[in-house]
Amino acid sequence: MDDHQPLTSLDEWEEDLLRRYPPPTAPATAADGSARYRDYSAATVRPTVRRFYELNHRHQTLDFVRAKRAEYLGLGRMRMGIWEAMEYLNQLVDESDPDLELPQIEHLLQTAEAIRHAGRPDWYVLTGLIHDLGKILCLWGEPQWAVVGDTFPVGCRFSETIVFHEFFAANPDAERAEYQTDLGIYAAGCGLDQVLLSWGHDEYLYHVVRRHLPPPALAMIRYHSCYPVHREGAYDRLLTAADRGLLAWVRDFNQFDLYTKRDERMDVAALRPSYEALIARYFPPTLAW
Ligand SMILES: [Fe+2]
Ligand SMILES: [Fe+2]
Repeated sequence: MDDHQPLTSLDEWEEDLLRRYPPPTAPATAADGSARYRDYSAATVRPTVRRFYELNHRHQTLDFVRAKRAEYLGLGRMRMGIWEAMEYLNQLVDESDPDLELPQIEHLLQTAEAIRHAGRPDWYVLTGLIHDLGKILCLWGEPQWAVVGDTFPVGCRFSETIVFHEFFAANPDAERAEYQTDLGIYAAGCGLDQVLLSWGHDEYLYHVVRRHLPPPALAMIRYHSCYPVHREGAYDRLLTAADRGLLAWVRDFNQFDLYTKRDERMDVAALRPSYEALIARYFPPTLAW
């Protein structure tokens, strides 16, 4: 195991999210009476996931986030279309056991199909289709802790609602008094748009697609991993009224992202034509990545 890549696959982080945020319909106890889903204790977390958060919380500093933004947000790496990016991302599965893991493209299609079946608008379905494409950062050598994991504001006090909050003790920003006030480097009510979040796949993809989708879609993409904000209600002091409205969309999206993973395989070839047509309604043939 590479110590900087502790997860056996990126999906391991998302499986752990289900422990903290179980489906609303899930029974609280298993048939034998033991706690089944509502398990918030850190004791049951897999060592790989624990190590992942240890690295994430230690290394995601304000300086690190600024450096990654400078490195990636010029979008000068390559040009490719949305479907091409889905196939590119799909290479990720080759690194773990393809028999155990659902290919990334199938998670995207499952999410999109669930949104479509729920009768949401076409731009929303498209958002489901693309929301994790930022994970291609992994293919460019970024460590797992800089691609996935719950995101959180940097440059102000780390909320105690952030999972494994204790690991922030090793973050150099914890020693910087100016970053550890309620507002830190921000002004009250400045808006989420002004807040620097820990670096990962959400923010990167937002910059790739920002000119092509409506504001609720962009919020879903940009904040879907920001559980401290959209699920825990932390950092409300930084938000605007408009942000609070957009976060309602992010929470609506979250159910499709978290609770639609199934082992049942998707017929990618059969679904492709209708999704290519949907992509073409909103996106040009290629985008800058
Ligand atoms: Fe994601
Ligand atoms: Fe996802």
